[in-house]
Amino acid sequence: MMETPLPELEAILLVGGQGTRLRPLTLGTPKPLLPTAGVPFLAHQLARARASGVRRIVFATSYRAEMFCEAFGDGSAFGLSLEYMTEETPLGTGGAIRNAAEALSSGPDAPVLVLNGDILSGHDIREQVDMHVAREAAVTLHLTEVEDPSRFGCVPTDDDGRVTAFLEKTPNPVTNRINAGCYVFTRSVIDSIPADEVVSVERETFPSLIEGGALVLGYADASYWLDVGTPAAFVQGSRDLVLGRLVSPALPGPTGDFLALPGAMISPEAKVGGGSVIGARAAVESGAQVSGSVLGDDCVIQSGAVVVDSVVGIGARVDSGAVLREVVVGDRAVVGPGNELLAGSRIWPGIVLPECAIRFSSDA
Ligand code: GTP
Repeated sequence: MMETPLPELEAILLVGGQGTRLRPLTLGTPKPLLPTAGVPFLAHQLARARASGVRRIVFATSYRAEMFCEAFGDGSAFGLSLEYMTEETPLGTGGAIRNAAEALSSGPDAPVLVLNGDILSGHDIREQVDMHVAREAAVTLHLTEVEDPSRFGCVPTDDDGRVTAFLEKTPNPVTNRINAGCYVFTRSVIDSIPADEVVSVERETFPSLIEGGALVLGYADASYWLDVGTPAAFVQGSRDLVLGRLVSPALPGPTGDFLALPGAMISPEAKVGGGSVIGARAAVESGAQVSGSVLGDDCVIQSGAVVVDSVVGIGARVDSGAVLREVVVGDRAVVGPGNELLAGSRIWPGIVLPECAIRFSSDA
């Protein structure tokens, strides 16, 4: 007997958010397009989706919608067919899924994959879809475990994997298992979300499906997972891809201690590592130290400067002897000589910080 081929899987990619937690990086570029390990963040997700059998993806866009089509076009470079559906005003995660579904060709019983556009995940998408289909679920949520679940949707399940509650950002989580931002919906369930309304799947759709007795399943696993919503997590994601902690077919070079993009100039007397990316034509001068950081194209790290776990924007400059730890420097900003910036500092694009304006050392 001939085996029935797997039906082609369609996906919706949620990319309409404003990425407020990543400002100023997201002032000009949506979070899913930020350069991450040398390519737009989404390139890693698209490559992984393609590898798990997805062939057609509808982007649910809103904030700076046109930039997605400029970056990815019709998707042929990725072996994918891409469509773009834009909300005039953001409709929330549920409203966005409903709106994007207008462009799907899947029938009412088909599984549809839905991905948050800011997640790096090594889980087996195909296995999640297979579980959904085999158990005829309404929705199957990817679940992962984190140390502090209070910032996420906490998702308890019973022994059969059935989700018993969906508790979005609760101060008293009942489990460390959280919503990992990758769902399989049966198409007809998407069609039951009200059209042209602001709806949150996390606050409305999932809780009401569970209350109404629909089969909502949890697909739990322990593979690599990261939500890149904050600057610290964004830097970590880029670092993990460069170091090979998460394998990505989209990485533009071999994995290693750092990734230098074309035209990057790194002095032999500089110390660069920890999974850093050195942007195209960026310069790291003699005696500078760069570790675990993302340096944008055309930026300059002058001699003796120290940049650790930070993002330095396109065309920005970090002057001699400046020290940055867990800092975001916006595009074209200048950190003058001798400044010392600590965790959480954010320099807005184009700002020039004068010499020794900020120091934390006791000798200052
Ligand atoms: P923050 O503002 O920093 O919280 O980031 P965000 O705007 O991306 O919000 P959040 O991380 O909660 O969003 C989860 C995913 O849904 C992201 O991939 C967003 O791009 C996407 N998203 C959130 N709201 C909307 C929306 O109204 N429309 C669309 N199309 N996508 C959305």
